[in-house]
Amino acid sequence: MKIAIITGASSGLGKEFAIQIDRQEKLDEIWLIARDRGALSLTASALRTKSRIIDLDLSKQENRDSFSNLLKTEAPYIKILVNAAGFGKIGATEIIAKQDIKDMIEVNICALTDMCLAARPFMHAGSRIINMASVSGFIPLPYLNVYAATKAFVLRFSQGLHDELKSKGIAVTAVCPYWVDTNFIPVAKNSPGAKSVTNFPFITKAQPVVQRALCDNRKGNIHSFFGFASNTVHVLAHIMPVCAQMAVWNMIRR
Ligand SMILES: NC(=O)c1ccc[n+]([C@@H]2O[C@H](COP(=O)([O-])OP(=O)(O)OC[C@H]3O[C@@H](n4cnc5c(N)ncnc54)[C@H](OP(=O)(O)O)[C@@H]3O)[C@@H](O)[C@H]2O)c1
Repeated sequence: MKIAIITGASSGLGKEFAIQIDRQEKLDEIWLIARDRGALSLTASALRTKSRIIDLDLSKQENRDSFSNLLKTEAPYIKILVNAAGFGKIGATEIIAKQDIKDMIEVNICALTDMCLAARPFMHAGSRIINMASVSGFIPLPYLNVYAATKAFVLRFSQGLHDELKSKGIAVTAVCPYWVDTNFIPVAKNSPGAKSVTNFPFITKAQPVVQRALCDNRKGNIHSFFGFASNTVHVLAHIMPVCAQMAVWNMIRR
């Protein structure tokens, strides 16, 4: 059974990945993972490929372990893994709820790592991994600090995995957008520090970000950038001192 697995498939970029992969790939099933079963059903109803709805809270280790066991039982051929589940919270690090900080690390870092490790035995030459990083992985972002730090992990982890799996014919791509118009922003603003970031310039739609990501991943590219802001931040991160990067962010975030 040849499948794609997409986390975060109930909304935003994950949902858009499901729709575009459905159009582009010949698969037996697309497995859709998130917490909101109703929203996953809506994604499933937009697909021609048979889908499997797996409602899981990825912040919980036991849920990630049971998904790993499901893979061992079913032993599918995983053609594509998309790790799009993730969230951020705006505000000074000290005022973000401790549980939110823990869950950001669990979902953005631990779940993404566990999914790659659980899927790897079922991937072969030609399989592909797409990890949702962010341009925030390249620069520190005060007032979106823990989130940006989790994306720095995703970026570095994906770059290293790209190199390790290249010789096995498995492409790993870190997708690094700037702001994208999804549910991410309302979720991030639902925080006591919401007023610390109120300006979301150069916001793009999910559709072209995902289109570019799938194209870059098919070409075996290590990164995927879409749009002026995403490309510019990437370049500036390499030529500006870190304090100057944060000064620019502090100027534009409000
Ligand atoms: N939008 C942006 O500006 C932007 C920019 C750069 C990178 N990104 C990254 O892109 C990825 C997708 O975000 P998005 O923009 O599409 O936001 P979104 O619309 O809010 O989607 C986030 C997805 O993550 C899932 N999720 C969150 N917590 C989860 C948990 N504990 N267990 C399982 N699933 C969980 C959500 O599903 P449920 O709520 O149903 O669980 C939802 O499907 C994230 O990793 C985000 O960090 C976003």
